[in-house]
Amino acid sequence: MNIKTSLALGLFAVAALPFAPTSASAQNMNPELLASNCVVCHGPNGESVGHIPAINALSAKEISARIREFRDGKRAATIMDKIAKGYNDAQIDLIAEHFGAK
Ligand code: HEC
Repeated sequence: MNIKTSLALGLFAVAALPFAPTSASAQNMNPELLASNCVVCHGPNGESVGHIPAINALSAKEISARIREFRDGKRAATIMDKIAKGYNDAQIDLIAEHFGAK
């Protein structure tokens, strides 16, 4: 995927966020497609851009735990609390596997 496609997908994901929880994203079980919602901020490999924390050094377990904490309001966030609400537990695990340090 080139950078323009990544950005376009990411921007689409951000634009679609308010409508996400019950729409197609709730059914989507394709790890690549799920992870594409994160690349605009965290980069294709989780190395992140600007001041956004990199996630590529975290294990899959750490990533899924943090996303659940964001979703449940147990971890301070500016945006991740809203993003995390768009995914069910199985989707969170797939995304975490995708970005988790190998
Ligand atoms: C609009 C930009 C944006 C998008 C899209 C985004 N994130 Fe984040 N992410 C952030 C920011 C900013 C933080 C820091 C916490 C906060 O302010 O919400 C963060 C924090 C995190 C953290 C915690 C990192 C740490 O060091 O504790 C994880 C894990 C994470 N994001 C995973 C994801 C995943 C997985 C996706 C896709 C489902 C995603 N993010 C989509 C901006 C984004």
